[in-house]
Amino acid sequence: MEIMKIQHVSIAGAGNLAWHLAGALKNCGIIIREVYNRDPGSGKDLADSVHARFVNTPGELDLSVDLIIIAVADSAISEVASLLRDTSKTVVVHTSGSVGMTVLKDLRGPIGVFYPLQTFRKGSKIDFRKVPVCIECNDPSGKKRLLELAGRISDIVSIMNSEERKVLHLAAVFASNFPNFMYTIAGDILRTRGIPFSLLKPLISQTAQGAEEGKLFANQTGPAVRKDMGILKAHGELLESHPEYQEIYNLISQLIIQYKLKDDKL
Ligand SMILES: NC(=O)c1ccc[n+]([C@@H]2O[C@H](COP(=O)([O-])OP(=O)(O)OC[C@H]3O[C@@H](n4cnc5c(N)ncnc54)[C@H](OP(=O)(O)O)[C@@H]3O)[C@@H](O)[C@H]2O)c1
Repeated sequence: MEIMKIQHVSIAGAGNLAWHLAGALKNCGIIIREVYNRDPGSGKDLADSVHARFVNTPGELDLSVDLIIIAVADSAISEVASLLRDTSKTVVVHTSGSVGMTVLKDLRGPIGVFYPLQTFRKGSKIDFRKVPVCIECNDPSGKKRLLELAGRISDIVSIMNSEERKVLHLAAVFASNFPNFMYTIAGDILRTRGIPFSLLKPLISQTAQGAEEGKLFANQTGPAVRKDMGILKAHGELLESHPEYQEIYNLISQLIIQYKLKDDKL
């Protein structure tokens, strides 16, 4: 049986993700009916950019749409959901990697999650077709409709329950948020000597490319994997004015040495 495609969507939130998601949906011909946001300034800007109506409270959202996307801070999802009126005729999803679907359990009607795995910042360029979208829904028809919708904006769509999604989100912190902070540290270290960060760009690209090709620990280089204690000591000395960076350096180097020992035994 043919499913009723999602055509009319409203969005709660006007932060980084809401901006990208609203734009991607609009570009695929989805009508963004309304946008709610706590701060009316950014809410109206987003509403204008996708030709939607701005509303001041979640309770004002017109619930005759096919889908309500709650794209607010994780800590505010429950509060925003609790302010929606009767949602029995619409699907309601949130967009968080680490919050379970059950945060929406008090709503009437189908509930779910629409989690795009990427790092979104307003103004950055993102090709949504390459963004994995993880779908969860407590209703079979709602799930099919969400999968169909996700397939219109992305080439990589999966079904994933809340537990699996939390694990994926944890892995994403290691794969993206932590390396990004390492770039920040690298930038700090270079700045003290006036050396340009741009010299590291080819190295960063090559490392990411290796991981993309699935070469993980096999691609590990550097003094720790070589167990070059002289260099580890010299680096420790260079970091004397940054004891917190020294701590990170020593901890990660130790872990690499242990991982290498384990890996060699396999
Ligand atoms: N950005 C990403 O890379 C990314 C990726 C995947 C999933 N997500 C998920 O997407 C959701 C939104 O994240 P984001 O990065 O777009 O957040 P964000 O840029 O920090 O924006 C937060 C949004 O939540 C609203 N908000 C915060 N506290 C609120 C409250 N108490 N009541 C009502 N609204 C409130 C903010 O409204 P104001 O404008 O009024 O402050 C804003 O619209 C989160 O669940 C996040 O886990 C984000």
